[in-house]
Amino acid sequence: MFVPRLASSVSEVEELKREAGIAACDFIRNGMKLGLGTGSTVKYTVIEIGRRIAEEGLEVVGVPTSEATRILADQVGIPLVSLAETGGLDLVIDGADEFDGNFALIKGGGGALTREKIVAQSSNGMVVVADDRKQVSTLGAFDLPIEVLPFEWRRTADRVAEICPGKVSRRGGVEPFITDNGGYILDCKFGDSISTPSSLETKILSIAGVVEVGLFVGICDAVILASSGGVLTLVNENGRLT
Ligand code: 5RP
Repeated sequence: MFVPRLASSVSEVEELKREAGIAACDFIRNGMKLGLGTGSTVKYTVIEIGRRIAEEGLEVVGVPTSEATRILADQVGIPLVSLAETGGLDLVIDGADEFDGNFALIKGGGGALTREKIVAQSSNGMVVVADDRKQVSTLGAFDLPIEVLPFEWRRTADRVAEICPGKVSRRGGVEPFITDNGGYILDCKFGDSISTPSSLETKILSIAGVVEVGLFVGICDAVILASSGGVLTLVNENGRLT
């Protein structure tokens, strides 16, 4: 796998996010039904889609994966629909917190993982936009986000802690972060040890009170990876875009 040089400054990272976000629009065709991801990288994709609609007559509709993205998409003029109305999506473009060599992802840094997974599972393709800090050989250095129900969440967290080698914390502490679905997020320190993300996903999902886990396995078809060396498209040979 390509090993890029890491970006060093905040402004350089922001520029890489912008480059990746805009480059992903090359996958978009007229008439597509799109899933619109959440985060500081894919926001550039959403803005660029809005620009193309306004300036180039692009015709697409979008399903947002969060309230933040719904507001942004609305502001830039992307017609929004529900999954029920579209019956399925051609493509979702979204960010990620980590991706490994098998295109497995950790997502949920922005707390939108449940809606993101619903939308990704309803799409015929998934393109991830990322800067070079997100590429890892083994997932888990980024704390794994898990959305849980507020009801008896400590009990749920204790059960997650039985399988997590490190600390399990509720995001936001005493003033908890509340997801768009009214849930809490547990950030779980697995360390870079998640070598079989699919079986870990199954284990976590078997715990009552867990709404969703930010492991996305077998869903991502390509990563648009921006580094100071340029923008690369990494295509999953086992994916749907080959
Ligand atoms: C939100 C996500 C984001 O896509 C992920 O956190 C990456 O965000 P960013 O592009 O801001 O680094 O999963 O739930």
